[in-house]
Amino acid sequence: MDFKRDDFPEDFLFGAATSSYQIEGHAFGGAGRTHWDDFAATPGNVVRAENGAVACDHYHRMDEDLDLLAALNVDVYRFSTSWARVIPDGRGAPNPEGLDFYDRLVDGLLERKLKPAVTLYHWELPSPLADLGGWRNRDVASWLADFTEVVMRRIGDRVWSAAPINEPWCVGWLSHFQGHHAPGLKDIRATARAMHHVLLAHGRSIQAMRALGMSNLGAVCNFEWAEPFDESDEARAAAELYDGYYNHFFLSGLFKGEYPASVLKGLGPHMPKGWQDDFETIGTPVDWCGLNYYTRKVIRPTNGPWPAHEEVEGPLPKTAMGWEIYPEGICKFLKQTSELYTGDLPLYVTENGMAGDDALASGAVDDKARVAYVSAHVAQVRRAIAEGAPVKGYFLWSLLDNYEWALGYEKRFGLVHVDFDSLKRTPKASYHALANALARS
Ligand code: FCB
Repeated sequence: MDFKRDDFPEDFLFGAATSSYQIEGHAFGGAGRTHWDDFAATPGNVVRAENGAVACDHYHRMDEDLDLLAALNVDVYRFSTSWARVIPDGRGAPNPEGLDFYDRLVDGLLERKLKPAVTLYHWELPSPLADLGGWRNRDVASWLADFTEVVMRRIGDRVWSAAPINEPWCVGWLSHFQGHHAPGLKDIRATARAMHHVLLAHGRSIQAMRALGMSNLGAVCNFEWAEPFDESDEARAAAELYDGYYNHFFLSGLFKGEYPASVLKGLGPHMPKGWQDDFETIGTPVDWCGLNYYTRKVIRPTNGPWPAHEEVEGPLPKTAMGWEIYPEGICKFLKQTSELYTGDLPLYVTENGMAGDDALASGAVDDKARVAYVSAHVAQVRRAIAEGAPVKGYFLWSLLDNYEWALGYEKRFGLVHVDFDSLKRTPKASYHALANALARS
């Protein structure tokens, strides 16, 4: 890596991130069924119909994985709690084994002097709640608040930070409009409801944690820089609309108590009744804002119903996801977020990383491309700080190769290679490079 810990302010934190369904193994420990199990079992949704039943078997290998984290010299570990592991039916009786698991995880982190950063919901909705309409049902806000309370009554006294939901855009748009993620809907009415309810649920979950006396609570959104296909007014407008529902809708709801007019033009008629009255809950104050950033998209207008645009392949070098590598975007979003929405509130890059063709050869993985990707993005984070953005930390996605949702186990984002047959872990060159960069002298 061409940076060192000393290049950053004393209080700047480095971390690694994972999520429950992607690593734990949902077949173990009494976890309930999730809508990702159902989505994966439906033909055509997921590469080779793979699911998270075993994943990285982190459930049984937690100690080994925490040792890997500690030796990486990071300060914080961002993980998520599986709703269906803690409350198998989504509501009602908790699963003691599930709560014990997260309790051990938090203690294991603290023993290793690592700060636990929890995300309550990283996408695996319990199937019985999906049966009731999932994110389309306004009651999801109460369900999430109740789940929050159950988890935090157990671990809330020891976690360093907490965020209710990972990436509202993916929960809302990607999963209900594009149908790429569970529950796989392509329905504008479902989308409008999910996009609003996800923020309402966020607010209720924050309130539940405040009531327990917790602090250092935040929101984590994802961002993609939107580039117009050409100089035309039509292409510019198309990119602005993409930017609106991707990058502005949620921040605007959280920090300004309104949704962008361009997005309401399409979603407005489908919003749930009385949505305008929910902003007090949605805007319940938070202590920080997290940004997940990977790429940019080139957007061109099309004929057809709203939003009448499409993504086209851009000219920049790409990762194994086919995502363009555009490090400048991370700096732009950090500055823009503080300038337009969050002011002095601490910002964290809660996810950044890349999928590569990471082959294991003679017991090692030489992922030079990942080292270059991380170095270039971290340089842009430093630039954002130099230009005034209050950025306080940077998290790598991901510690381990894991279940990359609809792309199954094919896309490897880890600093640590996982052989999905033997489940053997092998730290890649990027892991060693990051451990060196972060070593305290
Ligand atoms: C983010 C998700 C994470 C992972 C990365 C590659 O959108 O939060 O679970 O899939 O993308």
